[in-house]
Amino acid sequence: MEKRSLFIVLDGIDGSGTTTHSQLLTGFLKSKNYKVFLTHEPSNSEIGTLIRKYLKNKDIPPSVDALMFAADRVLHFYTEIKKKLNEGFIVISDRYVESSIVYQSCQSDDISLEWVKNINKFAEKPDITIILDLDPKISLARKSQEHLDKFENSIFLEKVRKLYIKRAKEENYFLLDTDDIIELVQEKIQTVVIKKLKSLQL
Ligand code: TYD
Repeated sequence: MEKRSLFIVLDGIDGSGTTTHSQLLTGFLKSKNYKVFLTHEPSNSEIGTLIRKYLKNKDIPPSVDALMFAADRVLHFYTEIKKKLNEGFIVISDRYVESSIVYQSCQSDDISLEWVKNINKFAEKPDITIILDLDPKISLARKSQEHLDKFENSIFLEKVRKLYIKRAKEENYFLLDTDDIIELVQEKIQTVVIKKLKSLQL
């Protein structure tokens, strides 16, 4: 039988703190002697590298973005995430399917949420999804204004934020306001994770 550990995803709009909090959570769980594998999307694969180029290019059709993100994700899931889970690691992913569902369906009216879900169906569901929520005006102020990607503007991110909140409610994800002291937000994330670990007797 396959061993299965815990698969945690932190997601949210640009600048909401997914990277910082994934790193802090990794450190916390390691200090409790858990084996932890921290990863992120877009991944480090060749597809992920191409996606990073496309993030600077407004002429890429949204459907191509969606297909690229899905291809990168499914590869990421099979070659890294699933392997590490089977080896007993807790896997923390900084972004995952929810990023595609929300960002890509907000890019164009022609992209339905159902289609995005469908092209991502080979990437298995995480055990915990935590959505970090923040006003885009604050989140963008945290970013260097010189190197903004094509999604990093407040009008688009406001739309993305609304959909994250709607999805969090519908899917019962943990929704956390990150306009607070980092340590306090991190403590809330740790509480959610510890509770889940206890319930699974891990
Ligand atoms: P991000 O985590 O912000 O990368 P970094 O901060 O390291 O540059 O992700 C890059 C962008 O890609 C971000 O704007 C969200 C977007 N994105 C999608 O649109 N769909 C996806 O499926 C993923 C994973 C990211």
